[in-house]
Amino acid sequence: MKKIISSLFVFFLFLTSFANEGMWLPQLLQTLNEKEMKKMGMKISAEDIYSINKSSLKDAIVSFGGFCTAEVISDQGLILTNHHCGFDAIQNQSSLEKNYIQNGFWAMEKGQELPNAGLFATFIIRIEDVSVKVLEGVNRSMTEKERQSMIDKNMAALKKDFPKENDQDILIRSFFDGNKYFLFVTETYRDVRLVGAPPASIGNFGKDTDNWMWPRHTGDFSMFRIYAGKNNRPAAYSPDNVPYKPKRSLSISLKGMKEGDFTMVMGFPGRTNEYLSAAAVKQILTINDPAKIKIRHEVLSILGSYMRKDEKIKIQYAAKYASIENAYKKWQGEVLGLTKSNAVKRKLDQEKIFMEKVKSDKVWDSLYGTILEELQTAYSDIEPLLLARDYYNETMPRIELFNIAGTLSSYVKSAMKDNSKANPTTVIQKLQELYSEYNREVDQSLMTALLEMYMKDISEENIPPRLNEMLREHKSMKDLVAHLYNRTGLNSKDSIFTLLQYSPDLVNDILKRDPIYQLYTDIANTYAKSTGDFIAEMQSDINKLQRTYMEAQMTVFNNNRFYPDANSTLRVTYGNVKGYKPRDAVQYDFYTYMDGLMEKHKPGDYEFDLPKKLIDLYEAKDFGPYGVNGKQPVCFIASNHTTGGNSGSPALDAKGNLIGLNFDRVWEGTMSDINYDPEICRNIMVDIRYVLFVVDKFAGAKHLVDEMNLVK
Ligand code: ARG
Ligand code: GLU
Repeated sequence: MKKIISSLFVFFLFLTSFANEGMWLPQLLQTLNEKEMKKMGMKISAEDIYSINKSSLKDAIVSFGGFCTAEVISDQGLILTNHHCGFDAIQNQSSLEKNYIQNGFWAMEKGQELPNAGLFATFIIRIEDVSVKVLEGVNRSMTEKERQSMIDKNMAALKKDFPKENDQDILIRSFFDGNKYFLFVTETYRDVRLVGAPPASIGNFGKDTDNWMWPRHTGDFSMFRIYAGKNNRPAAYSPDNVPYKPKRSLSISLKGMKEGDFTMVMGFPGRTNEYLSAAAVKQILTINDPAKIKIRHEVLSILGSYMRKDEKIKIQYAAKYASIENAYKKWQGEVLGLTKSNAVKRKLDQEKIFMEKVKSDKVWDSLYGTILEELQTAYSDIEPLLLARDYYNETMPRIELFNIAGTLSSYVKSAMKDNSKANPTTVIQKLQELYSEYNREVDQSLMTALLEMYMKDISEENIPPRLNEMLREHKSMKDLVAHLYNRTGLNSKDSIFTLLQYSPDLVNDILKRDPIYQLYTDIANTYAKSTGDFIAEMQSDINKLQRTYMEAQMTVFNNNRFYPDANSTLRVTYGNVKGYKPRDAVQYDFYTYMDGLMEKHKPGDYEFDLPKKLIDLYEAKDFGPYGVNGKQPVCFIASNHTTGGNSGSPALDAKGNLIGLNFDRVWEGTMSDINYDPEICRNIMVDIRYVLFVVDKFAGAKHLVDEMNLVK
């Protein structure tokens, strides 16, 4: 009896938690989701979303630069993504004279669209399950190394034989922690030009204060255009390239939506960890998130103090600042959410049910009987090392001269080994970018503060002896670092570029005598010896355990549908437009309007100021066809399960028309990467009508709206 009740409970637990939860594979929608999607209100078929026989919605979705999503919205290759996704490009095109961050940018004709080196857009042509071929010859008794080399061999063979066009690529990715493998045929366009962006006062309205928060009033969008060769195929940048003619572009609905309406989001979510054990969740919550939050707090206060004083530094460091701040705030939300939703306890409860089921079956017991204990031990063994890794990863890359040293070091290492790699062009390009966002004073302050913190907080064996020695020779860390910056040659871009014209051996000899280069290599080597090398080994053990635990969950709870954790591959998530109740006596509505934007408006404030023209349009109620009943909708929320990387993803209605642009999640629900809770997890989208209002009415770029297909 007890068993029946407990298995009913599991069934119920999964049934409820699975409504809205999930980042599903587009090629499996028909089998796993179509029925439910239709029940929830979808009017199109799974085949309309993903098909390899005819054009489908997936043909309008691209991975934008590998870190965000964008969608095609005209038959001339116009794509829409977030302002914060296009921000690095917008920043790179900006200067004090042409400050597109502050003033926005609009190409009034195609000739004015701005190329962006390094930016690309990748389409998914088809997806295949290749698990059987990839795992051929793999068995449980293999070591992880043997297993991996077998898998690598199988993948290489598959890649060689799989049919594709010459200008397409093949990508094979592991899913369900290595229990399954899928192959993707992709097509990447590398001439992606900036078409338009609103001023940051619209595109990033509310900045850090409003980030990860609802209610929201941000016009977080920017527009680009994909260019192709004359034959419409991928081509490197050339002024002769032409606008790409897509297989599919999204139609846009101005109808808006009501509470409860079906929505879905398609895009490239980056990373989630929904199937961890309680031990792992506890570690994130109590050790790793708090350490990373503490370090970033320090970094941000230093960067912020310089950026507030100096407009040039503000432009230079804007993108870096925003991305450091973004995860900093998210981790805080995650800690709060995991705590409040009792995530560890919830996992423990699930584990209890899991173990009961495992014990009830001899085969399961022999395969999975000790898996949770083993995970527990592995996590506690790796804990101090992961903490050291957080410190290393959160401090070293914040110091630009260390990044420069690191870039140089990997260049000389590979060039000395293999003379064919001794061409400095790529490394110079990379350094060019690093130097353009480098300011000596800022960097020196960061190095001082971060080295101090590093030495204080982590165990002795991670600290190079020479650093201790040097510190003794100087009065303070501040003096030592000032001394190093006075003596280093890494400070001077020109002399480094001149040096790179010489042979790798000579470059290496000179660099080895540079004090900051030395310090960088010392710290990196010490870290590798005391931590990095061990982590790699222990992590591979954990991966194996996690793969087994994943397999076990799918076996033991075999009447549930499972979706794989996000891994930057194309996914579909669906839900309903819906408000939520963050805490006792508080209820959030699902829509915001420009009235709320005006309520937040603070003239002169760096986060909440607004352009005069926008205010004038609001006061005149001049919303064009984009307003409803004298009000202009701005943002809305729904229960779609999204994560970082889903930024810029289209929000689609029941018919597959574009109604909004995903850009964030709500504060109470940022823990959805680890523990999705349908009660409070919501994604935030900007209403397409606000986007078009800004393009047309505010920016006067109606010609772009004219390119689109609007459905009334
Ligand atoms: N939180 C959103 C995301 O994860 C938006 C970030 C951009 N905005 C900002 N203020 N940094 O990417
Ligand atoms: N802003 C996030 C991004 O850049 C999306 C929000 C989220 O993490 O869900 O992808």
